[in-house]
Amino acid sequence: MTKKILAVYPGNFDPPTNGHLDIISRASGLFAEVMVAVTNNVNKVHTFTLQEKIDLLQESANHFKNVKIVSFSGLLANYLETINSFVVIRGLRAISDFEYEFQMALMNRKLNKNIETIFLMPDQSYTFLSSSMVKEIAMLGGSTAAFVPKCVEEKLKKYIAILSKNV
Ligand code: COA
Repeated sequence: MTKKILAVYPGNFDPPTNGHLDIISRASGLFAEVMVAVTNNVNKVHTFTLQEKIDLLQESANHFKNVKIVSFSGLLANYLETINSFVVIRGLRAISDFEYEFQMALMNRKLNKNIETIFLMPDQSYTFLSSSMVKEIAMLGGSTAAFVPKCVEEKLKKYIAILSKNV
């Protein structure tokens, strides 16, 4: 039996990278509908606002017809219930991601026993990529063109120009 599944890809996306887009593309090919659910991870310091992250994702992923960008606050498990979805997508870049992701998947299942987490592996060229590394490269004057969509590259440049004016 094939079900029409609505899958949710949650994340902090600060900023979105080509690795995130790779996961979105794979999920878009597998599920009837994919919601990329942007939030502010309470354990992290944020560079971009929630609205900026949504706008960047919207611009980068607008060619996927079954992908919607949304935002949520509070517990992911509660949000899933409100939209009647029980499938969470997460990317696994390397073994080092596993422990955190495993813990999060099991905790979400504890909060709601219907939640299933599906792990997708990005292309191996993205296994070393992270949002903070991209920000560090940009701040130190390096090119981020190979790692992020064009709109993110431009946003990073603007962000750095504002920072350097204020120093
Ligand atoms: N390509 C590139 N980078 C990737 C990646 C990929 N495919 N997959 C993950 N990453 C990187 C990100 O760039 C990010 O790097 P950073 O730490 O340098 O910023 C890191 O891996 C993880 O980021 P991301 O997936 O964007 O968000 P997160 O792990 O911070 O998000 C939430 C976690 C939002 C899903 C989780 O905190 C959550 O569910 N929050 C809601 C509250 C809640 O329910 N809490 C209880 C959870 S059990």
